[in-house]
Amino acid sequence: MENKLVAVELNESAHQYEIKIGHDLLDQSGIWAKKCLSANTKKIVIVSNAKIFRLYGAIVQNSLEKSGFDVSIWLMKDGEKHKNLRSAETLLKFLSTNQITRTDAVVGLGGGVVGDLAGFAAAVFQRGIAFLQIPTTFLAMIDSSVGGKTAVNTEFGKNLIGSFHQPNGVLIDVSVLQTLEKREITAGFCEAVKQGAIADQRLFDQTAEFLKSYPVKNFKKFHSQPDFIKDLCSLIAAQVSFKAQIVQGDEKENSARSDGKSRKILNFGHTLAHALEKVTEYKYFKHGEAVGYGIIFAAELSKRLDIFDNNELNLLCDVVHRAGELPSTKSINLEQVFAAFKHDKKTVGQSLQWILLESIGKPKIVTDRDISNSTVQQTLEKVLHS
Ligand SMILES: NC(=O)c1ccc[n+]([C@@H]2O[C@H](COP(=O)([O-])OP(=O)(O)OC[C@H]3O[C@@H](n4cnc5c(N)ncnc54)[C@H](O)[C@@H]3O)[C@@H](O)[C@H]2O)c1
Ligand SMILES: [Zn+2]
Repeated sequence: MENKLVAVELNESAHQYEIKIGHDLLDQSGIWAKKCLSANTKKIVIVSNAKIFRLYGAIVQNSLEKSGFDVSIWLMKDGEKHKNLRSAETLLKFLSTNQITRTDAVVGLGGGVVGDLAGFAAAVFQRGIAFLQIPTTFLAMIDSSVGGKTAVNTEFGKNLIGSFHQPNGVLIDVSVLQTLEKREITAGFCEAVKQGAIADQRLFDQTAEFLKSYPVKNFKKFHSQPDFIKDLCSLIAAQVSFKAQIVQGDEKENSARSDGKSRKILNFGHTLAHALEKVTEYKYFKHGEAVGYGIIFAAELSKRLDIFDNNELNLLCDVVHRAGELPSTKSINLEQVFAAFKHDKKTVGQSLQWILLESIGKPKIVTDRDISNSTVQQTLEKVLHS
């Protein structure tokens, strides 16, 4: 089967790179890295975690070494709570100790947590060195590995310290999804439904059809079917093309923009998602699962404001549910969720902007001045408690 290539061209940073998508690609990591990096690159540091490295590290390392790179490995602890400044500092010290220079490179082999931390270190080490992404979760493949946002969390909130640092290439090997837990697949598909909903009818239908043909509960079984691999690669290519197109038009997320093509629209479903994650101390939901509820909430709110059609709402909710079972929200305290919105507002220092929908493919940014508290509260009640 042929690999898919998506080109990303960024005017603002005058940078371009390719996203390569296919099956069983990890053993070509070396040849691929050679194409993406400058001829002067000698050393590569693979950033990963022990679980992922045990599964896929040797094949990537061997391939890079075969292509002549001097490879060293730095493993972080698994989990969101380790995406912090302390881990970043340890990694930066490792880069210094290993005498990594400005022409060397970092490869992030893992999900969004590894990718964000590795990218952050690559962004700030000697004011920026080359960075390659090999995403291993579905969420990282369609979302976090594309777009150049890198970050770490602080005690004050998620992703509060970071930098825009575009990768020099992204290698997506869908065969690694065979070992991913079902909840992580569901979380990734919630983000895919989110992107479909704000992109256009075509991407939305492609995502919905994929989930109908290949139910998430049997995801692992399908990996032996060539049609599944072909459809999965096509879906990922369509998803990353959409994300790349938005990023190309608004690379650094211009805060003054509020149009339907601004990078902000990628936050569709995220206001509630962040509040749900916060009130459950980032322990109960996978991020994408919280986005699943966020999509339903934003769509329901759009309908209550009479800007979104009821049939489209039902269809969208149906597709979110196809992504898999979401954790119950029956015991979530709605007042705390509402207060978390208000906190968000305070930290932004301006009114909260809701990303709503006028139709599939037509997002609309509405400030909370135009939405009554009671409408928000009733919508919360319906989406989380009924
Ligand atoms: N930079 C961006 O634009 C952007 C966008 C969206 C999300 N993010 C960030 O991404 C992070 C979430 O990423 P995630 O959902 O990939 O979670 P994650 O990186 O925590 O990975 C989820 C779990 O799956 C494991 N895993 C990864 N690949 C595996 C594989 N192939 N087989 C078996 N296990 C595997 C990981 O070790 C981890 O336990 C968050 O920190 C979020 O802020 C960043
Ligand atoms: Zn997200």
